Amino acid sequence: MSDENTVDYGPLTKLIGTWKGDKGTDIAPEPDGQENNPYYETIVFSAIGTVENAETQVLAVLHYRQIVQRKSNDEVFHDETGYWMWDAANATIMHSLTIPRGVCVLAGGKHNGGANADGSLVLEVKAGIDDKNWSVVQSPFMQENARTTSFSHRITVDDTQMQYCETTMLEIYGRSFEHTDENTLSRQP
Ligand code: HEM
Repeated sequence: MSDENTVDYGPLTKLIGTWKGDKGTDIAPEPDGQENNPYYETIVFSAIGTVENAETQVLAVLHYRQIVQRKSNDEVFHDETGYWMWDAANATIMHSLTIPRGVCVLAGGKHNGGANADGSLVLEVKAGIDDKNWSVVQSPFMQENARTTSFSHRITVDDTQMQYCETTMLEIYGRSFEHTDENTLSRQP
């Protein structure tokens, strides 16, 4: 890995740091319907430098950890970690994530590196079980009982605020379910 401080993280640069938000909305499956969980969370993105693949591809990498707590009882009910990677030569963003249910996702998307007129950036990645590039790995139990079929994640970030919405499509309890999460977070000093 290179010296993390001299690396150009491209469109991921604005993510680096600690973020907190308490306006989270989670819609999750229940056997006879859905649960709506208001939540708060902390996400820490750390710049960790570059990696080189096959002596050709250079990725600038952030590691992140996301801890999500229910407003109703402060219980941690979602714990996620992974990496965001920027492949400048191919104008591609990758987002790998793992959650402790036996589910891993590698999502990808294109990015031209540019910002919107107001200085904000939009990062968008997707994965699907039938996509040959960006896909999902899940345990035999989850394949059978709570299969993730697709994942999409869109972040809008500027110097002080980050907003995201995520949609995870599930096959669970004999039906297809749109599991969604969204929140607005503020950069911490
Ligand atoms: C802020 C983000 C998220 C929150 C707060 C959240 C929360 C929840 C909750 C409350 C459930 C219902 C089951 C339970 O009560 O434990 C659930 C189910 C599930 N979630 Fe998430 N989730 C989030 C993101 C994700 C992501 C990114 C994935 C995978 C890509 C995912 C995959 C699943 C799966 C497969 C289930 C079905 C398991 C079950 O209901 O028994 N979730 N989630």
